[in-house]
Amino acid sequence: MPIVFHESSKDFHLYNGQISYILTVLRNGQLGQLYFGKAIRDKESFNHLLETRARAMAVCAYEFDRVFSMEHIKQEYPSYGAGDMRHPAYEIVQENGSRITDFVYKSHRIYAGKPALSGLPATYTETDEEATTLEITLEDTLIKTELILSYTIFEQLPVIARSARFISHNPEQLRLNRAMSLNLDLPDKDYEMIELTGAWSRERSVKNRRLEHGITSIYSMRGCSSNNFNPFLALKRPETTEHTGPVYGFSLVYSGNFLAQVEVDTYDVARVSMGIHPEGFLWPLNNGDTFQTPEAVMVYSENGLNGMSQTFHTLYRSRLARGFWRDKTRPILINNWEATYFDFNEEKILNIASKAKELGIELFVLDDGWFGRRNDDLSSLGDWYPNLEKLPEGITGLAKKIQAMGLKFGLWFEPEMTNFDSDLYRAHPDWILSTPGRRVSHGRCQYVLDFSKTEVVDNIYEQMYKVLSEAPISYVKWDMNRCMSEVYSHGLDAGLQGTVMHRYILGVYSLYERLTQAFPEILFESCASGGARFDPGLLYYAPQCWTSDDTDAVERQKIQYGTSFVYPISSMGAHVSAVPNHQVLRYTPLNTRANVAYFGTFGYELDITKLPEDELETMKQQIAFMKENRRLLQYGTFYRLLSPFEGNVTAWMVVSDDKSKALIGFYRTLQPINVGYQRLQLKGLDETQNYHVTLAGQSSEETPKRLHVDMSAYGDELMYAGLITSDAASGENQEGYQGDNGDFQSRIYILEAMGK
Ligand code: DGJ
Repeated sequence: MPIVFHESSKDFHLYNGQISYILTVLRNGQLGQLYFGKAIRDKESFNHLLETRARAMAVCAYEFDRVFSMEHIKQEYPSYGAGDMRHPAYEIVQENGSRITDFVYKSHRIYAGKPALSGLPATYTETDEEATTLEITLEDTLIKTELILSYTIFEQLPVIARSARFISHNPEQLRLNRAMSLNLDLPDKDYEMIELTGAWSRERSVKNRRLEHGITSIYSMRGCSSNNFNPFLALKRPETTEHTGPVYGFSLVYSGNFLAQVEVDTYDVARVSMGIHPEGFLWPLNNGDTFQTPEAVMVYSENGLNGMSQTFHTLYRSRLARGFWRDKTRPILINNWEATYFDFNEEKILNIASKAKELGIELFVLDDGWFGRRNDDLSSLGDWYPNLEKLPEGITGLAKKIQAMGLKFGLWFEPEMTNFDSDLYRAHPDWILSTPGRRVSHGRCQYVLDFSKTEVVDNIYEQMYKVLSEAPISYVKWDMNRCMSEVYSHGLDAGLQGTVMHRYILGVYSLYERLTQAFPEILFESCASGGARFDPGLLYYAPQCWTSDDTDAVERQKIQYGTSFVYPISSMGAHVSAVPNHQVLRYTPLNTRANVAYFGTFGYELDITKLPEDELETMKQQIAFMKENRRLLQYGTFYRLLSPFEGNVTAWMVVSDDKSKALIGFYRTLQPINVGYQRLQLKGLDETQNYHVTLAGQSSEETPKRLHVDMSAYGDELMYAGLITSDAASGENQEGYQGDNGDFQSRIYILEAMGK
């Protein structure tokens, strides 16, 4: 049983051989936090870990007792105002104006398995043996409210998933204006916080900063999880590396506004909290009402950042993503966006599709511009019927023609948006988020539909259902291209306006749920101006996500590297696009563009009808390579080796479960000259296996001898001595020395086990 309750000490110990999480019922009935980290032996009492002591100036709970102070006690789900001076996990405003609460232990339940969270995405189990759940019910009798804290520990993973639920039995109205999903008080501050930060087209850069007294935080108040900060943070010790040392990872399974912060008090306690951002959030609780927070996932790794990422990958790939496509290799697609933008007709599309078929591509995706009267981004969002001027036989006619070529067909939607110039807006001007009597801001000339209203979600569902049920559609790209502003729901009571942001996200989830139920075999790819909603919440519905609108192969190394901190390779949309690249105007070799995109859900996004024969031939080989290796690439174990944030070379690799095959992506940004020797220490191999090393896309005769391939080496040599990757360019680029010299070059090394 990986969760025990010790009656005498009132300690709960969640452990599974990898991690321990220990909490206790304090003397005042509230919950104290004792330990989270590497597994420790169970025993009857861990109470001494509370470490209480008298401190001058402390605010104490009991008269004549100078020790029991909530200001100094590490807690599970703290409140503000009754002794604790730090930021609380929640706050409830009562009818009399008081914000003081006192939730004390009432009962608990330990059971096998993990319950679903109604209306919210969450990790899950397939059998009850995979996880054990602890639900602790606390009660504040004065305000007649229960608080249920849930903790699930996974049997085979160093993971705890948590959430909180409030239930009011109070005839008077309560107002919840803060409700975090997790709080964790760690006993010291000797950590660096890692966050994934950026902006449109440069999503998820890895940033590292030392904790100090005060608050270190990341957040979104944009209505989406955002490309500015991802709902994730990690705390690592200064000496922790990618592959060694302890790390805590925290990830929020949510797609809307969030706050993730570490508050360090002046006694060096580091309080981690994560949940819905309190700004603009106000949730009334009437008698019988419940509020369920989103789920937060906590990972502990002894094996550095990469170990943490591998745990997230396994969990999110297999117990967060769901459905038909979860375990399937993903189709190689071509998307027409960067090939045509809005300027297409049926003939153009069919020409691209037929060329794609010749190359071996499996899925054609028609992007923005197929509906209403949409020829630019000024109109028609919300009018989800085909533009018959562009596509005379509609989507059904086009999809059937593409299907007849032997390709699957996919379609773009942006369900949550509308333009003033649309039939939908003209019929329902009160369906957008906007504040009465005030100007409403646009983003990309579009307005946000009020997904907190059921009738809006129903309308969009019906429109999408019609298109998806009439045409043979295998894939949907669900886009979302602006942040929210003037958030106000028309017709909703004033007292409920603080619920709109969260209800909006629940509306998005409900539409995803209905569509994925109605069309279980459609592959959904989420997107938000690229990666502005690359979050665990959407992975529950859409197993892949368009990683970024930046398709440049050099930029993508950073974006995919950062994304891999939390998200599996099988979730990252990655396409080969044209040169000069449309975002940064850079020319990169075709093989480098593919070598980066292989480490994702692979596709193309350029006008292949305009390419020379030799490039098309290369693409055929790339597609064949991806087909042969995609199971390994998308489902193998991923290791980051060299960071693009730290140098001129990026490297990563995937290893098959049985360690019989590995692929290494090796990328060099600028060509150095006459530099020193380099070895790349590989990871995850079988020490005793002899691996044959070759390069993808090059026969052994073509491979320059100086590249140290077409040889064999044992796993231990490759991991500890390393693979020689030295650059041979000494400046003498005469014949015989060309090949992979020059800027933006890359290689894929293939390692195949030949036996022991
Ligand atoms: C933003 C997406 O990220 C792009 O891939 C493309 O679908 C455009 N929107 C279409 O408007």
